[in-house]
Amino acid sequence: MVMHLLGKFVAFFLFLIWNLGSSGNSVAQSCTFYVTNKCPFPIWPATVANHGHPVLAKGGFNLAQGKTRQFSCPGDWSGRIWARTACNFSSGLKPACETGDCNGLLECNGVVGVPPATLVEFALQLNKSPPSFYDVSLVDGYNLPVSVATTPSMKKCHIGGCSKNLKTRCPSELQVVNKKGEVVACKSACLRFNRDQYCCRNEYGSPEKCKPNMYSKLFKDSCPSYISYAFDTPSPLVVCDSDMYNITFCPDKWGSQHVSE
Ligand SMILES: *[C@@H]1O[C@H](CO)[C@@H](O)[C@H](O)[C@H]1NC(C)=O
Ligand SMILES: *[C@@H]1O[C@H](CO)[C@@H](O)[C@H](O)[C@H]1NC(C)=O
Repeated sequence: MVMHLLGKFVAFFLFLIWNLGSSGNSVAQSCTFYVTNKCPFPIWPATVANHGHPVLAKGGFNLAQGKTRQFSCPGDWSGRIWARTACNFSSGLKPACETGDCNGLLECNGVVGVPPATLVEFALQLNKSPPSFYDVSLVDGYNLPVSVATTPSMKKCHIGGCSKNLKTRCPSELQVVNKKGEVVACKSACLRFNRDQYCCRNEYGSPEKCKPNMYSKLFKDSCPSYISYAFDTPSPLVVCDSDMYNITFCPDKWGSQHVSE
């Protein structure tokens, strides 16, 4: 579904991006992702490539608290990165993770994660026109705050974390609760209710028809830099070429909530 929506975004913003022209301040044909875990618990970041693009970092790995893992990306890579929480791969059970699980596998290797999970979506086009763009999407829901930055750091290339805690603010009808009774993720209204008006489909399939709703407004208020629903307008899409992208889970204090380990 997100892939489909990303496609819509590509179509919708292509014209705009063309008009912005190339912001190319990089000559790289490839890039590096730096994924950092600032959460006070281990996470298991995961990657899934869009059709025709290679799996990066085998699709998933463990990242202890405070650690950074780097891996290279082709300059035209497109796909998504998210993080799984509270995983236990030794039990052999499925799901192996409380959130973002990919069929119980440590290395997702092409298997998409189970929503809700906060998604970092990339469509890289280094030195091309239109240039690269990326976003953080809550279209399928939320599990962790995340920030995206480039090196050298540039304000216009930065996606900040959340300003409020979406787990504690999550309405009960959207909550995902673990065995201990902790809220571990928050579904989007589209994921929870699967209605056209929330998913921006059919008669609601345009930005004019698919307006913000009480749930998307709550997401927006909590995480203003993220896409809160499919036709969030103006879209918080970032258009920036760089050869170094830093993706930081729990960049702020909100990640300290609901420690699962
Ligand atoms: C993982 O699951 C195994 C088998 O169920 C269990 O023995 C172990 O304690 C679990 N590990 C953690 C960290 O929960
Ligand atoms: C990105 O991460 C690298 C490696 O950890 C670090 O050297 C660099 O300063 C970071 N850049 C930003 C903008 O935080």
